[in-house]
Amino acid sequence: MSRARGSLYGRSSGKQNSIKMKKILVTGAAGFIGSHTCEELLRRDYQVIGVDNFNDYYDPEIKKRNIKNIGNNKNFKIYNEDIRNFSNIKNIFEKEDIDKVIHLAARAGVRPSLKKPRLYFDVNVNGTLNLLELAKKFKINNFIFGSSSSVYGENKKIPFSEKHRTDNQISPYASSKKAGELLCKTYSHLYSLNITCLRFFTVYGERGRPDMAPYKFTNLIYNDKPIEMYGNGTSKRDYTYIKDIVSGILTALEKNFRFEIINLGNSDPVKLKRFISIIEKKLNKKAKIIQKPIPKGDVKITYADISKAKRLLAFEPKVKIDQGLSNLIDWYKLIHNPKNYLSETSKKNKIK
Ligand SMILES: NC(=O)c1ccc[n+]([C@@H]2O[C@H](COP(=O)([O-])OP(=O)(O)OC[C@H]3O[C@@H](n4cnc5c(N)ncnc54)[C@H](O)[C@@H]3O)[C@@H](O)[C@H]2O)c1
Repeated sequence: MSRARGSLYGRSSGKQNSIKMKKILVTGAAGFIGSHTCEELLRRDYQVIGVDNFNDYYDPEIKKRNIKNIGNNKNFKIYNEDIRNFSNIKNIFEKEDIDKVIHLAARAGVRPSLKKPRLYFDVNVNGTLNLLELAKKFKINNFIFGSSSSVYGENKKIPFSEKHRTDNQISPYASSKKAGELLCKTYSHLYSLNITCLRFFTVYGERGRPDMAPYKFTNLIYNDKPIEMYGNGTSKRDYTYIKDIVSGILTALEKNFRFEIINLGNSDPVKLKRFISIIEKKLNKKAKIIQKPIPKGDVKITYADISKAKRLLAFEPKVKIDQGLSNLIDWYKLIHNPKNYLSETSKKNKIK
C-alpha cells in the first residue's frame, strides 16, 4: 500500500446509532485470522477499527482481498499503519473511541524468523509494547494478544498445558511471542489492565496463509507440483479450524479476565502423512513428495491441552480436520475458478 496513513475502506455513516456500539481495534485486520475476526465482530454488531500495514511477507493483494467482503460495511474502517509507528497508532486511539483491542499483527512464520530475527523482534515485541502503552494510556477495557503454541518449543510433556514451564523456545518467532506474553503480564500487573494471551495452535481454513502447509500443499498438489515433506511424515500438528479460533477470541474478548494465558487448539494432533493423504483424497490427486530433513526451529509435535479453554471460555472445537480441509479446498477451488469474481486478483497473485 502506498499511503503512509489513512483509511482504506472506511465508510462512516455520519449518524450515531441510538445504542452506542463498542469499538474494537483489531491489529493485523487484513491477515488470515484478523479478517475472520473482523467479520465475526461485525456480525455481532461491534464497530471495528482495523490496523494493518499490508506488508509483503505474502502478497498484499491477498490481504486486500481478505477484507474485500467487509470493506463497504459502515461499521468497519481500516487504517494502513505500522504498529511500530507509535505516534501514528496513538493518533488512531485519539481519533477513535476504542473500547477493546485484539492484537494480531505480527511477523508470523517460524522458519523466516531465523533469517530475520531483528524484524521479528521489532514488530512482535516493540509493536506489542506500543499497543500495551496505548492500552494503558487510553484505559482500554480488554486486550487480547495473539500468542502461539510455539512458545512451548520442544516441551517434553504432552499435551501442552498452560501450567507447563515455557522457557524452551527454539525459534526467534517463538521467543518473540513469549516476550509479548511477558510484557502483557507485566502491564496487566502494573496498570491493572485486563489482558488475555491466547496461544493459537496451527490455524487453518478459508483464506489460510499461503506460507502454511494447508494452503501450500493444496496449491502444489492441485497444480501437480512436488511438495516438500519435512521428516518422515510422523511429525504432528494440532490443526485448529479458523472458525473455532475466532469463537475462542470473541469469548475471551467478552469475558474481560484480569490476566490469563489460554490455549486455543483442537487437542487432536494429526500426523503429517495423514494430513497429506486427506488433501490428496479431497483433490483426487496423488502428491509428489520430496522428503527433506526437519528444518531448525520446527518442533516435532504440537498438542493443546484445552481444559482451561473449556473451563474459562466454554471452548469446544467443532470442526474436525477432514471437514476443515474440505472447506479450505472448496474455497481454494472457488478463488481459482476463472468464472469467479475473485479470479483476477488470485491470478495476479500467482501464489507459489
Ligand atoms: N496462523 C496460525 O497458525 C497462527 C498460530 C499461532 C499464532 N498466530 C498468530 O496469530 C496472529 C495472526 O496470524 P495470521 O496467521 O493471521 O498471520 P497473517 O500474516 O495472515 O496476519 C498478520 C497481519 O499482521 C499484519 N502486520 C504484520 N506486521 C505489521 C505491522 N508492523 N504493522 C501493522 N500490521 C502488521 C500483516 O500485514 C498481516 O495482515 C499473529 O500474531 C500470529 O503470530 C497464528
